[in-house]
Amino acid sequence: MSWKRDYERKGVSLEEALSAVRSGNRAVVGHAAGEPVSLLEELVRQKDRLTDVEIIHMIAIGRTEYCDPAMEQHFRHNSLFVGPGSRKAVNEGRADFTPVFFSEIPRLFKENILPVDVALIQLSPPDKHGYMSYGVSVDYTKPAAECANIVIAEVNRQMPRTHGSYIHVSDISYLVETDRPILEIPRPKISEVEEKIGEHVASLVPDRANLQLGIGSLPDAVLKFLADKKDLGIHTEMFSDGVVDLFRAGVVTNKYNNLNPGKFVACFLMGTRDLYDFVDDNPVVLMRPVDYTNNIMVAGRVNNLISVNSCLQVDLFGQVCSDTIGYKQFSAVGGQVDFVRAASASPGGKAIIAMPSTAKKEAISKIVATFGEGACVTTSRNDVHYVVTEYGIADLRGKTSRERAKALIDIAHPKFRETLERQAIEIGLRPACAG
Ligand code: COA
Repeated sequence: MSWKRDYERKGVSLEEALSAVRSGNRAVVGHAAGEPVSLLEELVRQKDRLTDVEIIHMIAIGRTEYCDPAMEQHFRHNSLFVGPGSRKAVNEGRADFTPVFFSEIPRLFKENILPVDVALIQLSPPDKHGYMSYGVSVDYTKPAAECANIVIAEVNRQMPRTHGSYIHVSDISYLVETDRPILEIPRPKISEVEEKIGEHVASLVPDRANLQLGIGSLPDAVLKFLADKKDLGIHTEMFSDGVVDLFRAGVVTNKYNNLNPGKFVACFLMGTRDLYDFVDDNPVVLMRPVDYTNNIMVAGRVNNLISVNSCLQVDLFGQVCSDTIGYKQFSAVGGQVDFVRAASASPGGKAIIAMPSTAKKEAISKIVATFGEGACVTTSRNDVHYVVTEYGIADLRGKTSRERAKALIDIAHPKFRETLERQAIEIGLRPACAG
């Protein structure tokens, strides 16, 4: 059968497509800007015929109605990355959280640890050969679709066609055509503190470095101070609008990405329509699944890989907590440890953890003597290289525990330094500076 006939045959209404989901099914859903919004809306509309449908995804920037208290008997969300839409449900016990490195999510599906009944995905329209691109979310979405018994695809005219990862019409069970804006997130506002952090981080970035930057105002603050660098490259899990600005300014060329010369390498994208237009049919952007982008055996071979990630707290031993506040699950490890380790393995690489020195309007120090009850270690002290705050850079590699404590106290907010010194002595980490 020609792919066009197959495409027509599989094209159904939203109602018909989602009627393939059964009670008790596990549905893996594309995430971030790749969220198939129409499919989720229809799934929620059909709630009354459904019980116990498990909905798995990472970052949710959509409405997450299935997390509402009234949905409890119909849907159970299993979050791989807690965010504003799922945090309340997870912490109230109405939804679950599964800790996992981003790079290892595909294995959960491929090795049937979490067998996938249904994949709900969003794609760009087919090319002349019948291949549809995964657009802005390839990450675990492609592996999930490849493992699922049923693949339901929203084929959205407004999904950019990105290069690197495709699915053929023949591998889809049901297709629903839509034409609606994909989810966007606005450019962040950068605070003065973040600017200072950005400046410190940028001082660690040499010309020809390949960068992994997370999302949000801190990465954008770093980008602001990279304008005078030369020939930077991007090998990351996701990128946003700020990186495109640097490409247009000739700073990012990807020339010295030794694995994929000339290419931006990422597994998902989140930003404004301007970003989505930039990546549309753009051969300089290579979108690959997360078990490629974040795989230490891959990213670790990229020369001069500089990873920049943020966290919630660092203790005086150099342990990093990025995803819990006390017992409460705040986010997840995501790709932090993947890239910290890849940057450590990379020839010339540097792993940077950057954060403001305080939180809650300077009421609490994010550098603490020891973590409070419930906090989980995200990145171990053995993995951490640089910790950066607005007060400077602590290079922890090769430092003793006492030297680490001193280096970290030196970049804490001045109003907390005395207390931290006292606490360091109490826990046997008499800082090198103390008498
Ligand atoms: N104790 C209590 N609250 C804290 C805190 C601390 N030590 N540190 C931060 N907070 C609060 C902030 O005050 C803020 O609260 P508010 O929303 O009420 O103002 C909230 O937590 C978020 O802090 P913020 O600094 O704005 O977070 P962020 O948006 O910059 O995200 C992380 C920081 C650590 C949550 C985020 O980077 C993350 O999830 N990292 C792990 C995953 C990762 O690194 N992925 C890598 C590639 S994308």
